[in-house]
Amino acid sequence: MSEVEVSVGGSQTEEKKNIRDIRNYWYPVCFTRDMPEGRPLAVQVFGEPLTIFRGKRREVICLQDRCAHRSAPLSIGAWKDGVVECRYHGWQFGEEGKCVRIPSLPDDQIPKSVRVPSYPATEREGMVWIWPGDADKCSLNDGFPEPAPEWNNSEWRSTDQPIDQQYSYWCLVENLLDPGHLQFTHEGTQGKNIGSTDNTYLDLHNLEISDTKMLGGFQGLVHATSTIKELKFKIVFDPPITVRLEVLFPNGWRFHQMHYCTPLTETKTRLLLRSMRDWLKFIPDRVIFKTNQMVLTQDQCVLYAQRIRIDQGASRWNYPVKSDALAVRYRRWRDEVEPHSKPWFKGYVGSSFKKGGGIKRGVVSSEKDIEELPLCESACDRNLELIESINQKAPELWPSALQFKQPKSFSEKLAPIFRLLLLSSYIFVLAVAVFYLIERGDFMTSSSN
Ligand code: FES
Ligand SMILES: [Fe+2]
Repeated sequence: MSEVEVSVGGSQTEEKKNIRDIRNYWYPVCFTRDMPEGRPLAVQVFGEPLTIFRGKRREVICLQDRCAHRSAPLSIGAWKDGVVECRYHGWQFGEEGKCVRIPSLPDDQIPKSVRVPSYPATEREGMVWIWPGDADKCSLNDGFPEPAPEWNNSEWRSTDQPIDQQYSYWCLVENLLDPGHLQFTHEGTQGKNIGSTDNTYLDLHNLEISDTKMLGGFQGLVHATSTIKELKFKIVFDPPITVRLEVLFPNGWRFHQMHYCTPLTETKTRLLLRSMRDWLKFIPDRVIFKTNQMVLTQDQCVLYAQRIRIDQGASRWNYPVKSDALAVRYRRWRDEVEPHSKPWFKGYVGSSFKKGGGIKRGVVSSEKDIEELPLCESACDRNLELIESINQKAPELWPSALQFKQPKSFSEKLAPIFRLLLLSSYIFVLAVAVFYLIERGDFMTSSSN
């Protein structure tokens, strides 16, 4: 079947100008509040295993998650006062991946060339960001999506929720840029605001698309009318991975969401979801978390099932229609930028020992023992799962690895007081009942006398 042309705004020539290496942007890997104290954290970007931890000045350090000695993952190691210590033989690495300690060597004999590749990292808007591209092109003034003005604003309540999805980042971005699926995939959740799928439909003919000031960015204004209500929403794509959604309800309530879709591997995505609202701010975060989780599970069911057909050879796009225009435009952008950038991790290459540089003879005994094994994608996934499971077990196995505790929300802090009040009221009711029965017994006893 042939694809149907849909006008999506912007010419092919204009789109060509938008080519920029997709790695040369900042990618958020976790919310700052989820950054563990006292231990390194395993993360991935474009399939490359990385580890992040706090340095001596509490800055975030990001290193490739492979020890320079014999390639044990550093993320299962220990944090020692601003450096990470490998779990295998205790080599320590700090800022810029420099090796600062080899237990079997005096400090002044550590070869300068022993180091782990490092990546620029920073914190902004309550998230930890990593720059996986060329370090010389890295700037703190460029490569971030537009900030969310509602965040840290007392007129809004903002809830942050990290959710890992088992499909590719571009699949998630396409889905977020697709207003036509809301009523059907999200029947009972988001779809409720549009109306029943039996007797109403969403008219998306007024979809207006325009460029934003971000290179390659665009937005769609949707004036959606159904037979029961009118909804206005705006969907913004900020290259390379951010989708902003603004919903205006008929009663004037505003609900905005930032979706940061960081590619972990080719089939796994970390969605850092920030939901912001200016209404009913007393509702506990967990209600929003649960609704968001339900919405994403609805997406996941459909995307998984669609994936089965695609894996059987079916085409992802057959008849794009007007409501697909944003997703088609994104698809064109990505088809041009991603193959040009070739961002995916292809395994570790080279060894300072093999090249004859770095480690002195005598430090490593046998050159023949070293063999480079390319790390395929599935091995990379297994590696991450291994690290995740080891990290979970770490507090029992290694007392130095501290378990990070999520800060409690205000309502969670009040929960013990509510429980106490509830228990006291039970005791009070019970005491009144017992007192009443005793009194009644006395009365009955005295009347029988
Ligand atoms: S593998 Fe890391 S210290 Fe030996
Ligand atoms: Fe969805």
